[in-house]
Amino acid sequence: MSDLIEGYLGKTVEGRKSRLPAKLDYLQSATGLFLALFMWAHMLLVSSILISEDFMYTVTKLLEASFIFEGGNPLLVTIAAAVIFVVFIAHAGLGMRKLPGNFKQYQVMKAHAKHMNHDDTKLWFTQAGTGFAMFFLGSVHLYIIMTNSADIGPYASADRIWSEWMWPLYILLLLAVELHGTIGLYRLCVKWGWFDGDNPRENRVKLKKVKWGLTVFFLVLGFASLAAYMKIGIDQVNNNNVGNKYQPTAKVMEYKMPNKTIGGIA
Ligand code: HEM
Repeated sequence: MSDLIEGYLGKTVEGRKSRLPAKLDYLQSATGLFLALFMWAHMLLVSSILISEDFMYTVTKLLEASFIFEGGNPLLVTIAAAVIFVVFIAHAGLGMRKLPGNFKQYQVMKAHAKHMNHDDTKLWFTQAGTGFAMFFLGSVHLYIIMTNSADIGPYASADRIWSEWMWPLYILLLLAVELHGTIGLYRLCVKWGWFDGDNPRENRVKLKKVKWGLTVFFLVLGFASLAAYMKIGIDQVNNNNVGNKYQPTAKVMEYKMPNKTIGGIA
């Protein structure tokens, strides 16, 4: 009954407003922080290809817990991707609350941003646009990784990127995720006053410089990694080797123990 009254009048019989929007805001911040930090780790792991094919192979096997399961178990990657997918969907659902619901709302927001000529307000539009794009781009990637976790590695990933045409999607996803992630982290810092210090105005300027530095760093790293996978993918086609899995060179050995095998680097 109380819900019904609040639904009609906007407040309860006691005159209180729901705390749910504040709780949802908090959840949106928490899921966003988790996803942004996950993406930093993700980009560093994916960029292991820039060191060598063997190194990327070793990283892949470590994430499949090759130190517990002989040869690694891709099911662990499927589970991790499923968990990330759930957080990703929850974050997107919470974010939808902030998008303008009709043209009039959009017009009001646009006019407001133009009138204020305030950089942070303009950043909001980038955040909303990249978030919307990721609904589609991120879902495709997560579903494919979740259902093909056994096909991750220097050759399998390169084949997916080049021969299976994932590179155009990755270019768009990379741009969206790097802009969205760093703008999101910056907005979290401002919203919760994490680095306000004694002079919030001055610190905000510094924070924005750090934000741009991180965006550029992860974009350069991401595009360099993508180029490396594309080059391997093209070589795979030229060598008639598409679909074949990478075989580690002698540098990556298997340590034999009496009753189990553990993968490692010599
Ligand atoms: C546990 C979850 C995830 C796993 C296991 C995973 C795994 C991978 C792997 C193995 C690659 C290399 C290319 C390939 O094999 O297809 C890749 C690339 C990429 N992933 Fe993910 N990913 C995950 C979540 C995400 C999320 C949530 C996003 C963003 C919404 C994302 C964005 C990207 C982008 C942009 C690339 C291309 C990066 C580049 O080439 O530099 N990934 N991912």
